[in-house]
Amino acid sequence: MKRELFSSKLGFILAAAGSAVGIGNLVAFPVMASQNGGAAFLIMYTIFVFFICLPVMLAEMSLGRHTRKSPYGAYSEIGQHKLWNGVGWLAVITPFMIGVFYLVITVWIFGYLAKAMMGQLETLAQDGAFGVFINSNELYVYMAVVIGLTFLILQGGVRQGIERAATYLMPALFIMLILLVAYVMTLENAMLGVTFFLIPDFSKINVQVLTDSLAQAFFSLSLAMGILITYGSYIQKNNDIVGAGKMVAALSLLVACCAGLLILPAVFAFDPATDPAELTDSSIGMIFMFLPKIFLALQQDIGFFGASFVASFFFLLVFFAAMTSLISIIEVPVASLMDSKGISRRKSLIVLGVLMVFLSVLSALSFGRVDWLSSFISYGGGDKSFFDVIMDVFYYSILPLNGLLLCLFVIYRWKKANLNEEMVQGNERFEGSFIQKYIDFSLGTFIPAILAIIFLLNV
Ligand code: PHE
Repeated sequence: MKRELFSSKLGFILAAAGSAVGIGNLVAFPVMASQNGGAAFLIMYTIFVFFICLPVMLAEMSLGRHTRKSPYGAYSEIGQHKLWNGVGWLAVITPFMIGVFYLVITVWIFGYLAKAMMGQLETLAQDGAFGVFINSNELYVYMAVVIGLTFLILQGGVRQGIERAATYLMPALFIMLILLVAYVMTLENAMLGVTFFLIPDFSKINVQVLTDSLAQAFFSLSLAMGILITYGSYIQKNNDIVGAGKMVAALSLLVACCAGLLILPAVFAFDPATDPAELTDSSIGMIFMFLPKIFLALQQDIGFFGASFVASFFFLLVFFAAMTSLISIIEVPVASLMDSKGISRRKSLIVLGVLMVFLSVLSALSFGRVDWLSSFISYGGGDKSFFDVIMDVFYYSILPLNGLLLCLFVIYRWKKANLNEEMVQGNERFEGSFIQKYIDFSLGTFIPAILAIIFLLNV
């Protein structure tokens, strides 16, 4: 079977940016930035994105394009050793499991979108509404819709599915984001939020903040999940990988900054006396418990329809961002199964779809609905739910490990010369440039070292 490719560099950039821009950019980043030093955080984060994340991103894309395989195939073909096959498996199972928790969150977002459109802001803004919602029966209706949509898009393949979805959803997302920022800026006290987002406070930066923000940058750029290896395997030979990678990183950063200008001003417009320390730490709490209250408060100024409209618009924005990310992460196991077993896309989707439904339902039931799932195992001083376990094992621990193994694999097994040869294709001026030397050096030395430290700290 001939491998399907993205139609152009732009198609690839939109798909990869679609993967990168997600809940992490829209909600986790603004909250993290405001709590950890504002502009000081922003400067540090930008350095991380370009000096640590970008080399890893380019390595993934190059590895994918060179082998024309998804992660399992790429590791086993070049690795030629049982151990590397194992790493390949890990690089497929990790995105699959992260896909499970990302799917559950996307379902919640879709549910909130549906409810906002049905004019149920008042219900959503009540204390405890979120807990009720995630344990309701209607959740499974939303889940069916989200899974159906995701698999329908993936069934379309690389060009007609992934690329086409990204070319509609991403521009729509940018426009919605700009409109929302412009609207929020007109609200009274919005400037308080802007200052709060941007005032630099270097004293907040410590080791914990450094490692957390690097982990966040990694997640936000969809690194170490095999996504960019898989998408890289669909890039044409004459497309400039380095240019595309820079563009994806820049877009992701830009969206994160715009989101800061949306969320924080909205918070302060709602309550100018907000105590920064009280801003909820988790992005989940922010989206589902805090923001509905803000939308409800808007009702006094712009009426029921106005407020419902703004709320729906916001949840639609987050939903689009989450969908393009969800597609990218599920494509990894789908493509891996197709590559390794030589089966059709449809068969691969059916097999993984069944598994995905099963695990997502288990996760969704683990928020108090079913006891043994809600207190699945005990460690670290408490009962952990099935959902928590997936987060802890795959997101906090295996993700940095995958990043570390990838760097070592590319530099010491695949070798620098081959990486360079691939990066230069489509961009001859890159040969011998400073960035090229920087990438060679950093990927073989301090980047894996930093990832090893994060891995050890989290384990
Ligand atoms: N990059 C996405 C975000 O910022 C997260 C994500 C991770 C998406 C893994 C897909 C896969 O939210």
